[in-house]
Amino acid sequence: MAQDPLILSAQPAGIQKAAALLAQGALVAFPTETVYGLGADARNGRAVAAIFEAKGRPSFNPLIVHVPNVEAAKALCIWSDAAEGLAMHFWPGPLSMVLPLRADHGLSSLVTAGLPTVALRVPAHPAAQALLQRFAGPVAAPSANPSGRISPTTAAHVQEDLGSKVAAIIDDGPCPVGLESTIVGLDGVPRLLRPGGVPAEDIQAALGADLLASEDGIVSAPGQLLSHYAPRAAVRLNAAQKTPDEVFLGFGDIACDLNLSPSADLKEAAANLFEYLHRLDRTGRPIAVAPVPARGLGTAINDRLRRAAAPR
Ligand code: TXA
Ligand code: MG
Repeated sequence: MAQDPLILSAQPAGIQKAAALLAQGALVAFPTETVYGLGADARNGRAVAAIFEAKGRPSFNPLIVHVPNVEAAKALCIWSDAAEGLAMHFWPGPLSMVLPLRADHGLSSLVTAGLPTVALRVPAHPAAQALLQRFAGPVAAPSANPSGRISPTTAAHVQEDLGSKVAAIIDDGPCPVGLESTIVGLDGVPRLLRPGGVPAEDIQAALGADLLASEDGIVSAPGQLLSHYAPRAAVRLNAAQKTPDEVFLGFGDIACDLNLSPSADLKEAAANLFEYLHRLDRTGRPIAVAPVPARGLGTAINDRLRRAAAPR
Protein backbone atom coordinates (compact mmCIF):
# COMPACT_ATOMS: atom_id res chain seq x y z
CA MET A 1 0.00 0.00 0.00
CA ALA A 2 2.52 2.58 -1.14
CA GLN A 3 0.27 5.62 -1.18
CA ASP A 4 -0.45 8.48 1.18
CA PRO A 5 -2.57 7.51 4.16
CA LEU A 6 -6.02 8.99 4.72
CA ILE A 7 -5.84 11.59 7.48
CA LEU A 8 -9.03 11.22 9.50
CA SER A 9 -10.49 13.46 12.17
CA ALA A 10 -11.63 12.17 15.55
CA GLN A 11 -15.20 13.23 14.69
CA PRO A 12 -17.81 10.46 14.19
CA ALA A 13 -17.30 10.26 10.40
CA GLY A 14 -13.53 9.78 10.83
CA ILE A 15 -13.98 7.18 13.57
CA GLN A 16 -16.53 5.31 11.47
CA LYS A 17 -14.17 5.20 8.48
CA ALA A 18 -11.29 4.04 10.70
CA ALA A 19 -13.40 1.26 12.22
CA ALA A 20 -14.49 0.13 8.74
CA LEU A 21 -10.85 -0.03 7.62
CA LEU A 22 -9.91 -2.11 10.68
CA ALA A 23 -12.78 -4.48 9.88
CA GLN A 24 -11.33 -4.88 6.35
CA GLY A 25 -7.98 -5.91 7.81
CA ALA A 26 -6.23 -2.59 7.14
CA LEU A 27 -3.76 -0.82 9.44
CA VAL A 28 -5.01 2.35 11.15
CA ALA A 29 -2.85 4.57 13.34
CA PHE A 30 -4.72 6.24 16.18
CA PRO A 31 -3.93 8.48 19.17
CA THR A 32 -3.94 7.23 22.73
CA GLU A 33 -3.04 9.27 25.81
CA THR A 34 0.43 7.65 25.76
CA VAL A 35 1.64 7.50 22.13
CA TYR A 36 0.07 6.90 18.70
CA GLY A 37 -0.67 3.20 18.13
CA LEU A 38 -0.49 1.20 14.89
CA GLY A 39 -3.78 -0.70 15.08
CA ALA A 40 -5.11 -3.86 13.46
CA ASP A 41 -7.90 -6.33 14.20
CA ALA A 42 -6.24 -8.61 16.77
CA ARG A 43 -8.24 -11.63 15.54
CA ASN A 44 -7.06 -11.26 11.94
CA GLY A 45 -3.69 -12.98 11.42
CA ARG A 46 -2.96 -11.24 8.11
CA ALA A 47 -3.73 -7.82 9.55
CA VAL A 48 -1.52 -8.52 12.58
CA ALA A 49 1.27 -9.79 10.31
CA ALA A 50 1.08 -6.46 8.46
CA ILE A 51 1.86 -4.64 11.74
CA PHE A 52 5.09 -6.64 12.16
CA GLU A 53 6.00 -6.00 8.54
CA ALA A 54 5.28 -2.27 8.66
CA LYS A 55 7.35 -1.80 11.82
CA GLY A 56 10.12 -4.22 10.90
CA ARG A 57 9.39 -5.75 14.30
CA PRO A 58 10.77 -9.13 15.34
CA SER A 59 7.89 -11.63 15.51
CA PHE A 60 8.93 -12.88 18.96
CA ASN A 61 7.86 -9.51 20.36
CA PRO A 62 4.15 -9.69 21.32
CA LEU A 63 1.65 -6.83 20.95
CA ILE A 64 -0.64 -5.05 23.42
CA VAL A 65 -4.35 -5.67 22.81
CA HIS A 66 -6.61 -2.63 23.27
CA VAL A 67 -10.21 -3.01 24.43
CA PRO A 68 -12.83 -0.41 25.42
CA ASN A 69 -13.58 -1.67 28.94
CA VAL A 70 -13.05 -4.32 31.63
CA GLU A 71 -15.85 -6.52 30.28
CA ALA A 72 -14.10 -6.80 26.91
CA ALA A 73 -10.80 -7.55 28.69
CA LYS A 74 -12.40 -10.38 30.66
CA ALA A 75 -13.45 -12.08 27.41
CA LEU A 76 -9.76 -12.53 26.53
CA CYS A 77 -7.98 -13.39 29.78
CA ILE A 78 -8.27 -15.13 33.11
CA TRP A 79 -9.21 -12.26 35.42
CA SER A 80 -8.02 -11.97 39.02
CA ASP A 81 -8.48 -9.86 42.16
CA ALA A 82 -5.19 -8.08 41.48
CA ALA A 83 -6.38 -7.25 37.95
CA GLU A 84 -9.69 -5.99 39.32
CA GLY A 85 -7.90 -3.75 41.83
CA LEU A 86 -5.57 -2.22 39.25
CA ALA A 87 -8.36 -1.82 36.69
CA MET A 88 -10.47 0.07 39.25
CA HIS A 89 -7.61 2.47 39.93
CA PHE A 90 -6.00 2.94 36.54
CA TRP A 91 -8.39 1.98 33.70
CA PRO A 92 -9.08 3.64 31.45
CA GLY A 93 -5.49 4.92 31.41
CA PRO A 94 -1.80 4.31 30.70
CA LEU A 95 -1.55 0.83 32.27
CA SER A 96 -1.21 -2.53 30.49
CA MET A 97 -1.69 -5.78 32.39
CA VAL A 98 -0.25 -9.14 31.31
CA LEU A 99 -2.70 -11.91 32.23
CA PRO A 100 -3.13 -15.59 31.34
CA LEU A 101 -5.06 -16.12 28.09
CA ARG A 102 -8.51 -17.66 28.16
CA ALA A 103 -8.91 -20.81 26.09
CA ASP A 104 -11.54 -19.18 23.85
CA HIS A 105 -9.70 -15.87 23.35
CA GLY A 106 -9.97 -15.85 19.56
CA LEU A 107 -6.83 -13.73 19.08
CA SER A 108 -4.31 -14.39 16.33
CA SER A 109 -1.38 -16.28 17.86
CA LEU A 110 0.94 -13.70 16.29
CA VAL A 111 -0.41 -11.11 18.75
CA THR A 112 0.90 -13.02 21.75
CA ALA A 113 3.99 -14.40 19.95
CA GLY A 114 2.78 -17.81 21.06
CA LEU A 115 2.92 -16.93 24.79
CA PRO A 116 0.22 -18.24 27.17
CA THR A 117 -0.39 -14.63 28.28
CA VAL A 118 -1.78 -11.44 26.75
CA ALA A 119 -1.03 -7.76 27.47
CA LEU A 120 -4.31 -5.81 27.77
CA ARG A 121 -4.97 -2.09 27.92
CA VAL A 122 -8.06 0.13 28.14
CA PRO A 123 -6.94 3.54 26.85
CA ALA A 124 -8.59 6.73 28.12
CA HIS A 125 -8.07 8.92 25.05
CA PRO A 126 -11.50 9.90 23.64
CA ALA A 127 -10.51 9.07 20.04
CA ALA A 128 -9.14 5.65 21.03
CA GLN A 129 -12.24 4.96 23.11
CA ALA A 130 -14.54 6.00 20.26
CA LEU A 131 -12.64 3.79 17.80
CA LEU A 132 -12.67 0.74 20.11
CA GLN A 133 -16.37 1.12 20.84
CA ARG A 134 -17.24 1.57 17.18
CA PHE A 135 -15.04 -1.33 16.02
CA ALA A 136 -16.33 -3.53 18.86
CA GLY A 137 -13.41 -5.95 18.73
CA PRO A 138 -9.90 -6.24 20.17
CA VAL A 139 -7.29 -4.00 18.49
CA ALA A 140 -3.62 -4.99 18.55
CA ALA A 141 -1.49 -1.85 18.59
CA PRO A 142 2.19 -1.32 19.18
CA SER A 143 3.54 2.20 19.10
CA ALA A 144 3.34 3.51 15.51
CA ASN A 145 7.09 3.82 14.87
CA PRO A 146 9.58 1.66 13.00
CA SER A 147 10.96 -0.92 15.44
CA GLY A 148 13.71 0.55 17.63
CA ARG A 149 13.08 4.19 16.70
CA ILE A 150 11.60 7.18 18.57
CA SER A 151 7.95 6.68 19.55
CA PRO A 152 5.29 8.89 17.87
CA THR A 153 3.35 11.47 19.88
CA THR A 154 1.81 13.31 16.91
CA ALA A 155 0.12 12.23 13.68
CA ALA A 156 2.97 13.95 11.80
CA HIS A 157 5.50 11.61 13.46
CA VAL A 158 3.48 8.62 12.21
CA GLN A 159 3.18 10.05 8.72
CA GLU A 160 6.92 10.73 8.48
CA ASP A 161 8.01 7.30 9.68
CA LEU A 162 5.25 4.90 8.56
CA GLY A 163 3.10 7.01 6.23
CA SER A 164 3.37 4.73 3.22
CA LYS A 165 2.49 1.65 5.27
CA VAL A 166 -0.82 2.57 6.92
CA ALA A 167 -4.25 2.99 5.36
CA ALA A 168 -5.23 5.87 7.64
CA ILE A 169 -4.13 8.01 10.56
CA ILE A 170 -6.60 9.54 13.01
CA ASP A 171 -5.14 12.96 13.83
CA ASP A 172 -6.24 14.28 17.19
CA GLY A 173 -3.21 16.33 18.18
CA PRO A 174 -0.33 15.52 20.52
CA CYS A 175 -0.59 12.70 23.09
CA PRO A 176 -1.08 14.17 26.58
CA VAL A 177 1.01 11.65 28.58
CA GLY A 178 3.76 11.13 26.01
CA LEU A 179 5.25 7.90 27.44
CA GLU A 180 4.02 4.37 26.74
CA SER A 181 1.86 2.54 29.25
CA THR A 182 3.34 0.96 32.34
CA ILE A 183 3.26 -2.84 31.90
CA VAL A 184 2.59 -5.02 34.93
CA GLY A 185 2.83 -8.82 34.79
CA LEU A 186 -0.01 -10.43 36.76
CA ASP A 187 0.49 -14.01 35.60
CA GLY A 188 2.32 -14.71 38.88
CA VAL A 189 3.75 -12.43 41.55
CA PRO A 190 3.02 -8.86 40.33
CA ARG A 191 6.00 -7.64 38.36
CA LEU A 192 6.91 -4.36 36.71
CA LEU A 193 7.73 -5.31 33.10
CA ARG A 194 8.09 -1.76 31.74
CA PRO A 195 7.98 1.59 33.56
CA GLY A 196 5.57 4.02 31.88
CA GLY A 197 2.74 6.51 32.19
CA VAL A 198 1.54 5.31 35.62
CA PRO A 199 4.37 5.62 38.18
CA ALA A 200 5.34 2.26 39.73
CA GLU A 201 4.94 3.82 43.19
CA ASP A 202 1.21 4.38 42.49
CA ILE A 203 0.73 0.80 41.28
CA GLN A 204 2.44 -0.59 44.35
CA ALA A 205 0.18 1.54 46.58
CA ALA A 206 -2.95 0.34 44.76
CA LEU A 207 -1.88 -3.31 44.93
CA GLY A 208 -1.08 -3.05 48.63
CA ALA A 209 1.66 -5.56 47.84
CA ASP A 210 5.18 -5.48 46.54
CA LEU A 211 5.66 -4.91 42.84
CA LEU A 212 8.80 -6.81 41.91
CA ALA A 213 11.15 -5.04 39.58
CA SER A 214 12.18 -7.29 36.74
CA GLU A 215 15.68 -8.52 37.39
CA ASP A 216 18.41 -6.68 35.61
CA GLY A 217 19.65 -8.30 32.46
CA ILE A 218 16.57 -10.47 32.04
CA VAL A 219 14.39 -9.39 29.15
CA SER A 220 11.06 -9.31 30.96
CA ALA A 221 8.78 -7.75 28.42
CA PRO A 222 10.19 -9.38 25.30
CA GLY A 223 10.24 -6.02 23.50
CA GLN A 224 12.42 -4.43 26.12
CA LEU A 225 15.51 -4.68 24.01
CA LEU A 226 18.27 -2.45 25.26
CA SER A 227 18.58 -0.28 22.16
CA HIS A 228 15.19 1.31 21.48
CA TYR A 229 13.61 4.76 21.01
CA ALA A 230 16.82 5.61 19.19
CA PRO A 231 17.44 8.83 17.27
CA ARG A 232 19.80 8.60 14.30
CA ALA A 233 22.57 10.44 16.13
CA ALA A 234 24.44 9.42 19.29
CA VAL A 235 22.87 10.29 22.66
CA ARG A 236 24.92 11.22 25.75
CA LEU A 237 23.16 11.14 29.13
CA ASN A 238 23.55 13.07 32.41
CA ALA A 239 25.40 15.87 30.65
CA ALA A 240 26.14 19.06 32.62
CA GLN A 241 26.59 20.99 29.37
CA LYS A 242 27.02 20.36 25.66
CA THR A 243 30.18 20.11 23.61
CA PRO A 244 30.43 22.47 20.58
CA ASP A 245 29.03 19.95 18.07
CA GLU A 246 26.18 18.67 20.25
CA VAL A 247 22.59 19.87 20.71
CA PHE A 248 21.45 19.96 24.33
CA LEU A 249 18.17 18.63 25.73
CA GLY A 250 17.69 20.24 29.14
CA PHE A 251 15.55 19.77 32.22
CA GLY A 252 14.94 22.45 34.85
CA ASP A 253 16.80 25.75 35.14
CA ILE A 254 19.58 25.23 32.60
CA ALA A 255 20.84 26.80 29.35
CA CYS A 256 19.99 24.41 26.48
CA ASP A 257 18.57 24.10 22.96
CA LEU A 258 15.26 22.54 24.03
CA ASN A 259 14.01 22.20 27.60
CA LEU A 260 11.82 19.22 28.60
CA SER A 261 10.46 21.31 31.46
CA PRO A 262 12.01 24.63 32.56
CA SER A 263 10.10 24.31 35.87
CA ALA A 264 11.36 20.71 36.38
CA ASP A 265 7.84 19.24 36.12
CA LEU A 266 8.14 15.52 35.27
CA LYS A 267 4.66 15.36 33.73
CA GLU A 268 5.52 18.16 31.32
CA ALA A 269 8.88 16.52 30.59
CA ALA A 270 7.20 13.18 29.76
CA ALA A 271 4.77 14.88 27.38
CA ASN A 272 7.64 16.64 25.57
CA LEU A 273 10.21 13.81 25.52
CA PHE A 274 9.59 12.07 22.18
CA GLU A 275 8.62 15.27 20.30
CA TYR A 276 11.85 16.93 21.41
CA LEU A 277 13.95 13.86 20.53
CA HIS A 278 12.34 13.91 17.07
CA ARG A 279 13.17 17.63 16.69
CA LEU A 280 16.76 17.33 17.86
CA ASP A 281 17.23 14.27 15.68
CA ARG A 282 16.35 16.39 12.64
CA THR A 283 19.39 18.60 13.32
CA GLY A 284 21.59 15.59 12.50
CA ARG A 285 23.88 16.40 15.45
CA PRO A 286 24.74 14.30 18.52
CA ILE A 287 22.37 14.87 21.44
CA ALA A 288 23.45 15.61 25.03
CA VAL A 289 20.77 15.21 27.71
CA ALA A 290 20.71 16.83 31.16
CA PRO A 291 19.99 14.62 34.21
CA VAL A 292 16.32 13.92 34.98
CA PRO A 293 15.41 12.80 38.53
CA ALA A 294 14.52 9.09 38.77
CA ARG A 295 11.27 9.31 40.71
CA GLY A 296 7.62 9.13 39.64
CA LEU A 297 7.40 9.55 35.85
CA GLY A 298 11.15 10.23 35.89
CA THR A 299 11.75 6.47 36.15
CA ALA A 300 10.09 5.88 32.78
CA ILE A 301 11.74 8.96 31.23
CA ASN A 302 15.17 7.67 32.30
CA ASP A 303 14.31 4.18 31.00
CA ARG A 304 13.52 5.60 27.54
CA LEU A 305 16.63 7.83 27.56
CA ARG A 306 18.91 4.92 28.55
CA ARG A 307 17.58 2.85 25.65
CA ALA A 308 17.90 5.81 23.26
CA ALA A 309 21.57 6.12 24.30
CA ALA A 310 22.38 2.38 24.29
CA PRO A 311 24.93 0.97 21.84
CA ARG A 312 23.16 -0.23 18.68
O1 TXA B 1 1.24 2.93 25.62
C1 TXA B 1 1.37 1.87 25.03
O2 TXA B 1 1.48 0.79 25.63
C2 TXA B 1 1.40 1.91 23.50
C3 TXA B 1 0.03 2.38 23.02
C4 TXA B 1 -0.10 2.34 21.52
O3 TXA B 1 -0.97 1.62 23.64
N1 TXA B 1 1.74 0.63 22.96
C5 TXA B 1 2.99 0.11 23.07
O4 TXA B 1 3.16 -1.09 22.42
O5 TXA B 1 3.89 0.65 23.67
P1 TXA B 1 4.60 -1.69 22.05
O6 TXA B 1 4.32 -2.82 21.14
O7 TXA B 1 5.50 -0.65 21.53
O8 TXA B 1 5.09 -2.28 23.40
C6 TXA B 1 4.46 -3.41 23.91
C7 TXA B 1 5.30 -4.07 24.94
C8 TXA B 1 6.48 -4.80 24.35
O9 TXA B 1 7.62 -4.54 25.13
C9 TXA B 1 6.05 -6.26 24.45
O10 TXA B 1 7.13 -7.11 24.55
C10 TXA B 1 5.22 -6.23 25.72
O11 TXA B 1 4.50 -5.04 25.60
N2 TXA B 1 4.27 -7.35 25.77
C11 TXA B 1 3.22 -7.58 24.97
N3 TXA B 1 2.61 -8.75 25.29
C12 TXA B 1 3.29 -9.27 26.32
C13 TXA B 1 3.18 -10.46 27.09
N4 TXA B 1 2.22 -11.36 26.85
N5 TXA B 1 4.07 -10.67 28.08
C14 TXA B 1 5.05 -9.75 28.33
N6 TXA B 1 5.20 -8.61 27.63
C15 TXA B 1 4.36 -8.38 26.63
MG1 MG C 1 7.16 0.76 21.11
